[in-house]
Order: sequence, then structure tokens, then C-alpha cells
Amino acid sequence: MIERELWHPVVASMHLRDEPVAVALLGESLVLWREPGHDGAPGVVHAWADRCPHRGAKLSLGRVLHHLHGSRLECPYHGWQFGGDAAVAPTGAACGRCVHVPAAPAFEPPASHSATVFEALERHGLVWVRLERPDLSQLPAALSQPPAFEPWSDPVWRQLIGGPYEVQTSAPRLVENFLDLSHFGFVHEGWLGARSHAQVETGRVEEGAHGLQANDCRAWQPRAYAGASGGGWVAYRYTVPHPFAAILRKDAAEGDPVSNAIALFIRPDGPEACTAWFAMATLGDLSDDEELRAFQDAVFAQDRPVVESQQPKALPIGRDGPAVEVHSPADRMSAAYRRYLLRLGVTLGVC
Ligand code: FES
Ligand SMILES: [Fe+2]
Repeated sequence: MIERELWHPVVASMHLRDEPVAVALLGESLVLWREPGHDGAPGVVHAWADRCPHRGAKLSLGRVLHHLHGSRLECPYHGWQFGGDAAVAPTGAACGRCVHVPAAPAFEPPASHSATVFEALERHGLVWVRLERPDLSQLPAALSQPPAFEPWSDPVWRQLIGGPYEVQTSAPRLVENFLDLSHFGFVHEGWLGARSHAQVETGRVEEGAHGLQANDCRAWQPRAYAGASGGGWVAYRYTVPHPFAAILRKDAAEGDPVSNAIALFIRPDGPEACTAWFAMATLGDLSDDEELRAFQDAVFAQDRPVVESQQPKALPIGRDGPAVEVHSPADRMSAAYRRYLLRLGVTLGVC
């Protein structure tokens, strides 16, 4: 299952502090926790199975303990303590090893007394996890890392995270909605489009080493940019660098001083539920962070009822037989996205 070998966002970095956090990823229950930082730098993050190896209690109901010799996660049931990196380093044991059993303090737990540990890292304001190490000879190289999102590493751009949005549909349905220009005039009438200007240009779609790319996509917008006095055609570029991520870029144009890059990053909780964030990078936009977030929240609130109404919730890509949905020439990008998922062998949230 390729999805288990990919990096997925699980929580916004700013929402993982002193307390453990429980999340679902690909149907697995995980506990996320963070060690204390040093000199103002945030501490390292951990992602473990949310199940104590002693009697199966949820570790996310426990506490993070800060010791002189490194941090530990304490199980809520019998108080067993499992070590983070520094807590186990002096013994040479691996992260996740039980280091203390309060009811039997002289007992030295063997390696079998360990939490299940997954790889975790931080990128683009989010914590990312993968459940299995991939066979690198099989996986496209670009997918062995979290998706690239250049404006996020460039300090010239203003960066912020919107979300999380918990959505009752599959991650592929949500990606396809993000790539779809032709709903603007209906779902976002007066905001991102107008019924009277519903025609779109889908541009060229190409697949390369870094996923899908579409340039020169155009839609008519009633207010083409903040401060615009009227409507106009707006050009977008899209990339799909990962089965459950998509990036939209709008560059500043004549008379339009604003450049925007918005990355949709999605945690596939299970086949029919997902959690999404927007990583936004802007240049030249005078709105403050709260206004930008409020705009995304409002736009997403318009998408949600329609996207959650789509049946089946799995995206029909023709994996289980003939595809049951039909296309028009305006759907070039979503048709390419469906072929991309089929070619990669994605199984979650598709049919
Ligand atoms: S179930 Fe975790 S310490 Fe007993
Ligand atoms: Fe939308």
C-alpha cells in the first residue's frame, strides 16, 4: 500500500506543544508528542502508535514528563514511562522503549516493552509522519520527502497556516475539488467566480518527476485581487506533488500586485474522512493574517456541503472496474489527477 510509505501531515506544528495529541492516519490511531525545546528552538516531535504495549490503553490520555535525562511519555493506566530520544540515549536503547515501571521499580524492561514508533519531522508549519519506510527503488524520488513548497522557505513571503478542516469525504475528492476551476461561478458565486462568466481555460497538463503540473489555467473572477475595482481573468498554475496534496500559484500581474501560493495538505484519516490545512504564502497582500484565514474559512464553508454530498465518497478512478463518472473538456486537470492516482497505485479513498 503506497500510502503507508508516503509522508502525511498530521497536525499543525503550533498545535503540538506540552500535551500529547491523538490523531487518525490511514485508519491507525497515533499519539503525537513533543520534547521540550532548548534556547527558544522547539523540541523534537514523536509519532507513536496510540496503544500501550502493556494493556493496550491509549497513550494519548497520558502525560509528557520532563526529566533531567530527557522526556518521557507516561501511560495513563499504570504509569509506565516510555523514553523519547534523550531519555533512552544513555542506555543505547531505541526511542519508544519503556524506561520505568512504577509498580516494579527495580525491573529493567527489555526491548519488547516498547511503544511502536513511526518516523516524524516538521515541514511547512506542519508535523509529517510516514508509517513505513519505502522501497526507494520503487517509489518516485520526489515522494520520499514531504512535498516541496518553495515559497515556504523564502522569508520574503508571508506564511500562515489555515485549518484544520475536518471533512467527511476521501482525501482524493478534496484534492480534485481544489483543482477544479469550473465550480467557482456556482459554489463561490460573487467570491471566486460568477455564473455569467462560467467558462474556464484549463491550460496544459503535464506529468513529470515532481507530479502533475498545469500552467495557464484561467477563470474569470468578480474581484480579481484585493483592492481591484472590478472583475477580470485570473491565471493560475497548479501542481500535484503528492496524491493528497495540491499547490496553486497566482503570480502578480499587470495592475495586480499580489502573488499567492496556497498548498492544500491533507491527512487521510481513513477512506472516507480527512483533515486538511492550507499553507498560504503571500506577497504584496495588505490583508492581515486573520483576514486571510477568515477568507479561506468562508470559501471552505462554501465547498464543504457540496464536497461532503458527493457519492461515492471514494474518487472513481477506474480501479475497481469501469469509472462511473463522466467528464467535459473543462475537467482536463481532474482527469489527469485520476490517471496519476491509478498509475501510482493509490488504494485509499479511490474506487
Ligand atoms: S496499560 Fe499502559 S501502563 Fe498499563
Ligand atoms: Fe471551491
